[in-house]
Amino acid sequence: MFVSGNRLSAFITGTSSGLGRALARCLVQRGWMVHGCSRRGCDLPGVYDRPCDLTDAARVPDALSELLAGVDRLDLVVLNAGALGEIRLLAETPLADAKRVMDINLWANKTVMDWLYAWGRPVAQVIMISSGAAVLGNKGWGGYALSKAALNMLARLYAHELPDTHITALAPGIIDTAMMDYLCEAADAQAFPALQRLRDARGSARMPDPAAAAERVLSVLPELEDRPSGSFVDMREILDPEAYAALYSG
Ligand SMILES: NC(=O)c1ccc[n+]([C@@H]2O[C@H](COP(=O)([O-])OP(=O)(O)OC[C@H]3O[C@@H](n4cnc5c(N)ncnc54)[C@H](OP(=O)(O)O)[C@@H]3O)[C@@H](O)[C@H]2O)c1
Repeated sequence: MFVSGNRLSAFITGTSSGLGRALARCLVQRGWMVHGCSRRGCDLPGVYDRPCDLTDAARVPDALSELLAGVDRLDLVVLNAGALGEIRLLAETPLADAKRVMDINLWANKTVMDWLYAWGRPVAQVIMISSGAAVLGNKGWGGYALSKAALNMLARLYAHELPDTHITALAPGIIDTAMMDYLCEAADAQAFPALQRLRDARGSARMPDPAAAAERVLSVLPELEDRPSGSFVDMREILDPEAYAALYSG
């Protein structure tokens, strides 16, 4: 992180709900200057917010230039905005649906990274919010798993191009957000057995709420900087090695 007499400064995507909103709230409480964007906008006091559809690549650069006009450096960027898509067989997933998920989970992040590159001001740490789905390849997670696997490679590739920025693709573990409403209530657990693990965890400490998950993400940031820039890290490897081993061995 840059050490300066000024407040630490962050930019977070997807601050209207879930993990992104909780990260924004947590950093504001810690005295950071926080900038955020999403389509719905962020309701939190203290967050400098600019409603923006991050898949609209033609408009994003102007929106970011406006949002971050007074900022001379970013200590932390969290590329968190994302979408799940439908849990279904890949063979039955319309290509347009898979592309829509890729647009927000992958290409929107390229748009933001390219803007940061052109912006040219110091950016200390970038966290791209990935998922265990990027490597687990569970039945039904088609478009989402593909997009997060590609995101892991996006992190690795930009690490070559932004040598002064530390980049991590970070799986945050399971979190009780709007995404879980669909996974735990609507999707078909008979057809897609990996859903049962989520349903069993909901309501327990294994599935924290967004506020607790945000604290956990922020707690591992210093340790992430010890890994090579561009790495994929599942947070459970650091915070819960037993759960990590069980997840990736089964
Ligand atoms: N929940 C989990 O268990 C879990 C596990 C692993 C990884 N993740 C990852 O964590 C991240 C946050 O997810 P969440 O669980 O917090 O879900 P969420 O509550 O649905 O939040 C998703 C955020 O992304 C924003 N977003 C989606 N499409 C957008 C677009 N086109 N332009 C701008 N913003 C957009 C949404 O804002 P608007 O709708 O207002 O645009 C919202 O703020 C995602 O990348 C997800 O893949 C979640």
